[in-house]
Amino acid sequence: MNILAIVGSYRKGHVVDTLVDRVLEGALQTHPGAGSEKIHLGDRRIEYCRNCMVCKKDDPAKPIAHCAVRDDMDELLPKLVAADALVFGTPVNIGAATALTKTFLERACWTLAKPGHRPIEGCPEPRTTKSRRAVFVVSAGTVPCWLRWFCDDATKLLKSWCGSCLGAKAVGSLYAGAVEKRGVAAYEAKARALGRRLTAAPP
Ligand SMILES: Cc1cc2nc3c(=O)[nH]c(=O)nc-3n(C[C@H](O)[C@H](O)[C@H](O)COP(=O)(O)O)c2cc1C
Repeated sequence: MNILAIVGSYRKGHVVDTLVDRVLEGALQTHPGAGSEKIHLGDRRIEYCRNCMVCKKDDPAKPIAHCAVRDDMDELLPKLVAADALVFGTPVNIGAATALTKTFLERACWTLAKPGHRPIEGCPEPRTTKSRRAVFVVSAGTVPCWLRWFCDDATKLLKSWCGSCLGAKAVGSLYAGAVEKRGVAAYEAKARALGRRLTAAPP
């Protein structure tokens, strides 16, 4: 099993990065033989999508459509397609995923998806048919857990993107709320449990 973690936080060693590490620890507890890789999007050169639609118009039989932009997405897209299990982490900034995360998701949208038919004609559906699982870690500085569903668009976005662009089944998520007050340690056990769930059963 090949686990890929994508970190969309601007800070290494802080909340999201730490909790993603705990998820990977948990995942490897259940599946000691798994390989894992963590990618910090902030370390990579990822340009904005240009909406040129070269990818969307490319041959739908290709597992990865051609992108007109040459940057580190050339290396990252094949890693996403090869992954059996995915961990996505982002802080909640202004109620949503970070700009870094969204830049990455936009670039990986029509390169990994093709125009489909559901829920309406033209919506993205995955180019690959590989089955895989995904979990999500989001952290919010001030908003506590009980207000999550009013103030967290990040989890919804990640879940929907993973389904429509990669065919990944969401098997759980962790919302680390009010971390400025509660601290990261309050969520580490939950993050390990999330990791165990990721690798507990075949994709
Ligand atoms: C520009 C900006 C916007 C933010 N917006 C929110 C927000 O809407 N709700 C919230 O609870 N925290 C907000 N925060 C706090 C971050 O969520 C918090 O610092 C982050 O979860 C910590 O993650 P990290 O340690 O991985 O950087 C914001 C932080 C920044 C820098």
